[in-house]
Amino acid sequence: MNTVFVNGEVIDRVDAKIDIEDRGYQFGDGIYEVIRVYGGNTFTMKEHMERLYQSAEKMKLSIPYSEEELTGHLLELIDSNQVKDGIVYLQVTRGVSSRQHHFPSKDVKGSVVAYTKDLPVPLRQMEQGVTAKLVEDIRWLRCDIKSLNLLGNLLAKEEAASDGHFEAILHRGDTVTEGSSSNAFMVKDGVIYTHPVTNLILNGITRRVIEDLCRRNAISFQEETFLVPDLFEADEVFIASTTSEVMPVIKINQQVIGNGKPGSVTKKLQALFSERKREQSPVK
Ligand code: PDD
Repeated sequence: MNTVFVNGEVIDRVDAKIDIEDRGYQFGDGIYEVIRVYGGNTFTMKEHMERLYQSAEKMKLSIPYSEEELTGHLLELIDSNQVKDGIVYLQVTRGVSSRQHHFPSKDVKGSVVAYTKDLPVPLRQMEQGVTAKLVEDIRWLRCDIKSLNLLGNLLAKEEAASDGHFEAILHRGDTVTEGSSSNAFMVKDGVIYTHPVTNLILNGITRRVIEDLCRRNAISFQEETFLVPDLFEADEVFIASTTSEVMPVIKINQQVIGNGKPGSVTKKLQALFSERKREQSPVK
């Protein structure tokens, strides 16, 4: 049986019901997180939960559970589905109320749902590298909120995917911001560059792990904006996310990056990231 979490209960997925006037469904008025499970243990759960509560605060959304309670429910769900390598998806919306744009009264409780999915680590792509397409970043100006509203991201991903690319790398004007569902990085002369944490990107948890790994291993990590032409001149480019880990980008549009193979800094980070996964003790 595949179980899901719906408003306080772990139930069979086929019994899950969502009201059609849920504000998540009507407006995308909600937030989400995607958390990795490796070998049955969650990875960076605390960081994801903290970001969820920060997103909620920025949206003036009240989550009807404490962080500890919600974490407990997710662990129960992972256990119930015997997830080994996969993800848990968690979503909180502003709840159910008759359709109106302004917020419902305070006694309308947020809806919380979660499900798990088996998802192996994309080893082959991580080894060989992937390609990306540059797409104009047309999203709103609060990309720091992990909102359910992903239309700008979806349009960009579709544009890239329909051309056979793994990811869309977004740019606002000349400035590279991030991927459509990942953060973007370039390496030049041994230095890693990535967009600073502002309202224009999501502060990725994988990005934070990478930053920490760089600090501990004397790899130069600069939070500095870079431009589209810099990207094409880079020695290496990679993207990072919960599902893709550290993913080398070997071609952008039709242009080869560096020598067209995953670079040495990217490979070093992949090795350090794997080590971190092994070290991380489960949240219990
Ligand atoms: N995407 N930027 C965007 C726009 C994202 O959607 C994501 C994650 C990231 C990386 O964040 P993290 O390292 O915390 O996963 C950056 C998730 C995985 C998704 O939407 O499926």
